[in-house]
Amino acid sequence: MSKYIGAVDQGTTSSRFIIFDKKGRIVGMDQKEHEQIFPKPGWVEHNPMEIWANTQEVIKGALKKSGISGSDIAAIGITNQRETTVIWDRQTGKPYYNAIVWQCTRTDKICKELMAEGGQDRFREKTGLPIATYFSGPKMKWIMDNVPGVRAAARKGDALIGTMETWIIWNLTGGAKGGAHVTDVSNASRTMLMDLASLEWDKEILEIMDVPEAALPRIVSSSDDDTWGTTEEHGPLGARVPVCGALGDQQAALVGQACFDTGEAKNTYGTGCFMLLNTGTKPIQSKQGLLTTVGYKFGKEETVYCLEGSIAIAGALIQWLRDNLNLINSAPEVEELAKSVEDNGDVYVVPAFQGLFAPYWRSDARGVIAGLTRFANKGHIARACLESVAYQTRDVLEAMNKDSGVDLTTLKVDGGMVMNELLMQFQSDCLCVPVIRPQVTETTCLGAAYAAGLAVGYWSGIEDLRSNWAVDKTWEPQFSKEEREKGYAGWKKAITRTFDWVE
Ligand code: G3P
Repeated sequence: MSKYIGAVDQGTTSSRFIIFDKKGRIVGMDQKEHEQIFPKPGWVEHNPMEIWANTQEVIKGALKKSGISGSDIAAIGITNQRETTVIWDRQTGKPYYNAIVWQCTRTDKICKELMAEGGQDRFREKTGLPIATYFSGPKMKWIMDNVPGVRAAARKGDALIGTMETWIIWNLTGGAKGGAHVTDVSNASRTMLMDLASLEWDKEILEIMDVPEAALPRIVSSSDDDTWGTTEEHGPLGARVPVCGALGDQQAALVGQACFDTGEAKNTYGTGCFMLLNTGTKPIQSKQGLLTTVGYKFGKEETVYCLEGSIAIAGALIQWLRDNLNLINSAPEVEELAKSVEDNGDVYVVPAFQGLFAPYWRSDARGVIAGLTRFANKGHIARACLESVAYQTRDVLEAMNKDSGVDLTTLKVDGGMVMNELLMQFQSDCLCVPVIRPQVTETTCLGAAYAAGLAVGYWSGIEDLRSNWAVDKTWEPQFSKEEREKGYAGWKKAITRTFDWVE
């Protein structure tokens, strides 16, 4: 058995390759950012060719830096920014159009038309999702409605549709020479086209959306011992390695955090922020604006479902402070700036840059800075930005407690922002639960590595994975009830100021 497992994380802002050992420790890593393309307000695209080139580069880079050879890797897993959609030509491997990113709001009109009959929850029973610009199905429809010839090519099976794991797997396993065209159940559950119970494309919704099934990938388990394909000898790994694990990045973090029991939850602070609660082997429909989604499916075992609270803007708000307002030079500086003041000075920032996701689902909302006085300075703005991440999480947690009927007693956290001590303490204060950071915070890549490693028997089962998990730090709540509720009341008021901003 080879010594390591590799995982590609094709994220919203960068692509990475991390090599793990059996204990789940990182032994090699490389990362490269890609361009964010904003053709119009609210529109976001990525260049899939740039992403594939970067993926190859970081695989080679991680191997080189660690001195590990591709043949020392037992299997590869893929994790990815979810919902982002690409359609490409099967013969040439060239995309017909840039990838439309999960954050993009261009499908607003399509969504409104879909909602006209049956409302926002028209497909919720089958798919677990409200109709929203966030999901892949409307993005597929937009490309086929707007780029000449793509729908006809899709009908003939000449065009291939995929989310980013599908694109990377196809390219890694041979591309136009016969790469595997697959999507894992967790990613497929974000398309608004998959029936959550049968795990198959839903024919009725496909027809309504005019998405040809011939162009869609085969839905597979997240960890699949029927390997989808192997990497190529002349590819970036320089060896034939099975590609047999894939998970959307948030589901991967759930697996990386070893949340395998019903009632276990994690919150990942990345570009956005996503809380997933394992609800067991039956999908639970949300009444509080959460999503019902597939958590994971290992081989032929039963599918595990989740309730998810999706927050569109978290780390992206700190990038905005850096790149658009130039208040800081680098993202970590936000903590110092926020610490330069004692509290938020009654300032609230609601980053509804592309509307609000859970639990509101308001595409008409836009961002606000509320409560400004002449007293307010840039420290207060920075602090309010960090607090907005914690308050959005509280909105989601309250919905989750109501939906599941169980109060979460602790919160496992991961993602880039968990290095921000001020945010983590405030998160614990505003939720009134301990917040726990694990030793390995690269849980997204780790989860994808686990999925691949389970498929080839590198790890024998979830007990193996559980024993790799260890606490790094815990933050305990310090606020009085009064302090906590006063702050949250201000936040709720600020939220109402974002509504009805656009048609
Ligand atoms: O659903 C979108 C999500 O997968 C993006 O994750 O890590 O870029 O915030 P992230």
